[in-house]
Amino acid sequence: MSIVIIRQDGKIDLWKKAVQQGNPSVKVYGYNEDHPKGDITMALIWKHPKGSLANYPNLKCIASAGAGVDYIFEDDQAPQGIPITRVVDPYLASDMSEHVLSAILAELKNFPTYKLQQTKAHWNPLPYRRIKDVTVGVMGLGELGSLTAKDLVHAGFTVVGWSKSQKEIPGVTCYAGETGKNPFLKASDFLVCLLPLTTDTAGILNAQLMEQLPQGAYIINVARGGHVVDEDLIAYLDKGHLSGACLDVYHEEPLPKAHPFWAHPKIMMTPHYASVSDTKSVVPQILENYERLSTDQPLQNVVDRKKGY
Ligand code: GLV
Repeated sequence: MSIVIIRQDGKIDLWKKAVQQGNPSVKVYGYNEDHPKGDITMALIWKHPKGSLANYPNLKCIASAGAGVDYIFEDDQAPQGIPITRVVDPYLASDMSEHVLSAILAELKNFPTYKLQQTKAHWNPLPYRRIKDVTVGVMGLGELGSLTAKDLVHAGFTVVGWSKSQKEIPGVTCYAGETGKNPFLKASDFLVCLLPLTTDTAGILNAQLMEQLPQGAYIINVARGGHVVDEDLIAYLDKGHLSGACLDVYHEEPLPKAHPFWAHPKIMMTPHYASVSDTKSVVPQILENYERLSTDQPLQNVVDRKKGY
């Protein structure tokens, strides 16, 4: 039994060291070093090269090192009959919530516009908005979405939420399903997307949805680039129906230099870093599942393959 770490972002050694420190008796390899493929029972992965999971005949668990698992379903050579687990981590949720709060406050107080004006030495006071006058809509009320919604309530915003199935969160008006979508969107001055990316939600941030948002609404996408129809977003920003967008995720990452988002004055971009798995807090749950795998106990944070999250 052993673990292989598969990722392409230069962080294999960091994760390997963290696993070794967490439990020195566990055998762990980076996929780019020589390793006994038949001995591997758990693959700890993040955006692995497609097809690489097929190299392990005795794999018993695919552990995503992040909250999202969409990239695993995009790999049609990934083993089908074994559990996929994902990270459920308080820091992943609170980091996301802090990022969303920062994006909203910066916009309410015109920071992105002032930064643009500053580059032209342009002194131009702008009207600012108050938290108490703003409604934030959170799409997706899973671990990250529900904490973000609760924190926004504590900060003083009016908060509405939307999810596939009905949820109840104190202080949040929750809508669900297709019928709940329209009243939810109509109320959302800021729309925060924290949905999982599935066949149901791909392209959900499209012209039809944007049309239902109030005039001047602002979109924050911190879920996946695949949720957005890029041309629709640009069209709705350019015609002034949307006042702006703050994006952390893109169809292609890093976003190609020629993409129109880079130079768009109403788009605020961050490089998919709103909330990042911290080895210190994530490795213990990976090792816990590894132990459970070794002793045939049920795993934690298992993904529902039918739902896709
Ligand atoms: C980050 O995007 C994650 O899914 O953890």
